[in-house]
Amino acid sequence: MTRILAIESSCDETAVAITDNGKLLANVVSSQVAVHKKYGGVMPEVASRLHCENIDVCLKEALEQSGLSFEDMDAFAVTRGPGLIGCLHVGLQAAKTLAMLYHKPLIPVHHLAGHIYANEYVGAFRYPLLCVVVSGGNTELVLMKHDLDFTIVGETKDDAVGECYDKVARVMGLPYPGGLPIDQHAKRGEHTYPLPEPLLGKDGYDFSYSGLKTSVINLVNTLHQRGEEVNIDNLARSFQDVAVGMIVHRACQAAQDFHVAQVVLAGGVSANSYLRAQMSERLKDTGIDLIIPPLWCTTDNAAMIAKVAEHLYREKVFAPLTLGVDPNWKISDFRHFD
Ligand code: KG4
Repeated sequence: MTRILAIESSCDETAVAITDNGKLLANVVSSQVAVHKKYGGVMPEVASRLHCENIDVCLKEALEQSGLSFEDMDAFAVTRGPGLIGCLHVGLQAAKTLAMLYHKPLIPVHHLAGHIYANEYVGAFRYPLLCVVVSGGNTELVLMKHDLDFTIVGETKDDAVGECYDKVARVMGLPYPGGLPIDQHAKRGEHTYPLPEPLLGKDGYDFSYSGLKTSVINLVNTLHQRGEEVNIDNLARSFQDVAVGMIVHRACQAAQDFHVAQVVLAGGVSANSYLRAQMSERLKDTGIDLIIPPLWCTTDNAAMIAKVAEHLYREKVFAPLTLGVDPNWKISDFRHFD
């Protein structure tokens, strides 16, 4: 029997989860989105302060939900990176304090490994596995040949896809975070605005989003200058076709080239309805299995951190109490935390 308490605080969600032999007993998420909305993005200093205010409440609530106490835990897990440095510090200090007080191991977890392993709440992994990691801070294709083995086979050369959604939404006058509003408008629109397809004709599995972002910003500014109205539905559709099209094209190519048994979607942008539909369509009848995470798994939470921690606990990947955060931690380095 392994009981794990996990903490996640890498960005704007303070979260605590408790698992007992893989069973989720508590899953508490306190989101700060409403606060950051008025700034049009996450304000790092505000986010760190809110984590400080919320962490105790989340811990208490998680214990209540689980009916357990800190003494019942076998290990304390925490997101060590990547993320916002001040935010990561709050979660790490809390986890270190608990590990020290209750003399239990401290397990450092990579945030993106968390997004990937969230899919284990849906189904068992089959290897080789391709993970399509698409979020506000990352756009990566990660190949896993076996458990806890991560090789980045493709990544963005500039902006992350979620960041691009948020910036494009802003210029279109849509609220933050912009992914969902664009997704909703796109459903009502037609692809009428010609936008350049990044890395068109280039082989490989890398991505690029800054050119697409600039094209949309320039297009909107030009239309405004000419006094022409922007059709938000059509622009959302045109943008989404290109932004998601690149992910679908590259992911399916990689899945085929690496002969994977399964593909999983992970990260905030995996909530996108067009991405989900397109991936299902393209992989059907290929013999490649697709796991689509439930919506609660696509946003930051600590249940996903606990899931990775179970695997790390079995392999005794424990950190000393001198552990520091790493805002730029690479997933392929998840065993290195000196
Ligand atoms: O995983 P996440 O919280 O970011 C990081 O941890 O880095 O994902 C947040 C991102 C935001 O950029 C948001 O706009 C995007 O996910 N997002 C979406 C959708 N829902 C959220 N992007 C596209 N379509 C959606 N339906």
